[in-house]
Amino acid sequence: MDAFEYKQNKLFCDDVPLSDVAEDFGTPCYVYSKNALQNNALKYVDSFKGTNNLACFSVKSLSNISVLKILKDIGCGFDVVSGGEMYRALSVGADPKTIIFSGVGKSSDEIEQGILNGILSFNVESVSELYRIEAIAQQLKMVAPVSIRFNPDIDSGGHDYITTGRKGDKFGISSVEDILSLSKYIFSSPHTHMIGLACHIGSQITNLDSFKETAQKTFELADQISEIGISLDFLDLGGGLGVSYDSNNHPNPEELITCLNDEFKGRRERLILEPGRSISANAGVLLTKVEYVKDEFLIVDAAMNDLLRPSLYEARHEIWNIHENDNGHDKKNMNVVGPICESSDFLGKNIKINAKEDDILAVRTAGAYGFVMSSNYNSRPRACEVLVDADKALLIRKRESLDDILKMELSVND
Ligand SMILES: Cc1ncc(COP(=O)(O)O)c(C=O)c1O
Repeated sequence: MDAFEYKQNKLFCDDVPLSDVAEDFGTPCYVYSKNALQNNALKYVDSFKGTNNLACFSVKSLSNISVLKILKDIGCGFDVVSGGEMYRALSVGADPKTIIFSGVGKSSDEIEQGILNGILSFNVESVSELYRIEAIAQQLKMVAPVSIRFNPDIDSGGHDYITTGRKGDKFGISSVEDILSLSKYIFSSPHTHMIGLACHIGSQITNLDSFKETAQKTFELADQISEIGISLDFLDLGGGLGVSYDSNNHPNPEELITCLNDEFKGRRERLILEPGRSISANAGVLLTKVEYVKDEFLIVDAAMNDLLRPSLYEARHEIWNIHENDNGHDKKNMNVVGPICESSDFLGKNIKINAKEDDILAVRTAGAYGFVMSSNYNSRPRACEVLVDADKALLIRKRESLDDILKMELSVND
């Protein structure tokens, strides 16, 4: 069931009319449904019940600590890609043994923090990174748990900027020889322990065959690694399951897990997944007010600094008026654009909608890679974030003020 539905022509998030949220908190404003976040995550967590498989929510997709706490409480671990994300996960009480640290450019400080905090694993993305982790673990007189992130050379389709598992992409290690000799090195080092094998082939993947192919390539490599004498605890197949940004149906998490359970039959390693978008995307909308109507443009108060996806990936989001006013008869094709001085500043092109000045619009499926990518470009304060819990709307991030924007700057000319 969709968390955002019209009831008597008014768009609701669960039991709260979005008009009330816009009135109480202003716009632009991100709104998330607690119920939708929980239901989406439980599709993974429940399918893993009775096993020691683990769903590590990808913090990069939506990182507000109230959201992380909800997901932690229902049994998610976390996939983090920076010291900041690790700090967020730990601050909501995540068990460090459920935290996976991915990313190609981990700094020495981040590595040290990961080791000291006792995280489950570093997904190592290069030979140099492994040497650095080993040296830091040695200094600390500790053993660092590592998995190698390999690049399976699978083109999962979709926008070039979100595929990550092809040869030539910056992620993971591509050469099987390099992976095997690195595995031997890890095995022989007293300061590293090889605990898993990882990959992540991209995002917004809607074809389960790509996941099957990834699983098969992972098994082949894991078998070669086990010949060295290494017994891997887990195989981490990353995140990447796509969601519907329109009304088309795509495979859901249960279908993905059924498919992977079939592939994993007879394997002794546990399965780890790193879902982001499939948990957070359809749990959120961005509310924005129409400031002006000019020709075919609806000029709204949210912009590319609030939601970058349309400008960055030409991503398409549905945009609805929170007051459904004409059953579709008077809808026109409009371009929904923001106030930023860039032609690429748009939230949607050719959106069929009926709207006038001061109307509030909801940019749908904006929970993932929405607020987290926002910036202060054009000195625009970042939007607030609101969590709807049944019939209550709770502020979970204050709207930034102009003073917030200036407070990190130092004037040296006084
Ligand atoms: C390493 C890694 N894991 C998980 C994810 C989450 O992907 P998604 O949000 O598509 O599930 C990403 C996203 O890019 C990623 O880079």
